[in-house]
Amino acid sequence: MYARALENEFAREVRAGLTRPGQKTLPCHYLYDDVGSALFEAITYLPEYGLTRADARVIQAHAGDLLECLPPNIVTAELGSGTGTKTRAILERLQQRQTVTYFPIDVSEVALEKCAQDLGPLGSVFPIAASYLDGLREVAAGRADGQTLLVLFLGSTIGNFEPEAATDFLYGIRSCLQPGDALLLGTDLVKSVELLRAAYDDPTGVTAAFNLNLLARINRELDADFDLRQFEHVIRYDAPLQRIEMHLRSRVYQSVCIRAAELNVDFVPNETIFTEACHKFRPEQICAMARTAGFRMEAQWTDLEWPFAESLLVVV
Ligand SMILES: C[S@@+](CC[C@H](N)C(=O)[O-])C[C@H]1O[C@@H](n2cnc3c(N)ncnc32)[C@H](O)[C@@H]1O
Repeated sequence: MYARALENEFAREVRAGLTRPGQKTLPCHYLYDDVGSALFEAITYLPEYGLTRADARVIQAHAGDLLECLPPNIVTAELGSGTGTKTRAILERLQQRQTVTYFPIDVSEVALEKCAQDLGPLGSVFPIAASYLDGLREVAAGRADGQTLLVLFLGSTIGNFEPEAATDFLYGIRSCLQPGDALLLGTDLVKSVELLRAAYDDPTGVTAAFNLNLLARINRELDADFDLRQFEHVIRYDAPLQRIEMHLRSRVYQSVCIRAAELNVDFVPNETIFTEACHKFRPEQICAMARTAGFRMEAQWTDLEWPFAESLLVVV
């Protein structure tokens, strides 16, 4: 029984997730503290993680086609930009026809800093440390007449949402936009389970470290005593839901104290905390989701080496 609400949002969400009946969970956006962001960046270089390279290949090959579909005077905003590495190809193309104004939006300040440093020479870069839609609302509120907003949501980050929440999220984006504005949506496509298993459980253990760091972050920020060696990174592929699930599995009976969340939580052997879902898509599912959210599919480009789609959606 808690007489007062916790003030710290992280503590509140951790307590809610770990006291949830049935499957314990933790929200995946907390994976990205400074350490988590650095580990994610390392994941993108892993030979097993073909997703980022496929995304980059499609963008590199079609940045020109993308801009040809859009009117002049573009302002670009990117949701969950991270370091914005792949976005360079779009901004370089854009720079050939207009001055570049780019708003990377991310919860990770360290990633935003690197993004601004790397892409700053291409134009005016205004990093926004905020959650996706708060950041986008800020950009939309400041737009001038005659500008078209191009929103980037790359890296298949949309796959972290449950299917219904993904459509609601696209609708949330659409609600910040005006007819003619556009969304470039990167989505990882359904592929062989072997490829996915190797990508999300790499033999060097970088993805495991990325996942376990969530417990380390709770220790650091919420005065908790998770023994990281008593948890292990495990993944599951749920074929009907077309998704990889990342979990942290308790090796033993154990009790963990999270002081800032005013919580003692028990684990039995093999019990897991569900930390992230990575949904995979079929091209027709992307079309359906986009249509429901109020977009029309203007173009879709795919990578065949690592099935991945980049969809240009325009607000109707
Ligand atoms: C899967 S990574 C993708 C990074 C980059 N867009 C890419 O394609 O490589 C997700 C990014 O979104 C950021 N992020 C996660 N949840 C967020 C949220 N709710 N609001 C804003 N950014 C978020 C993370 O910090 C991280 O940089």
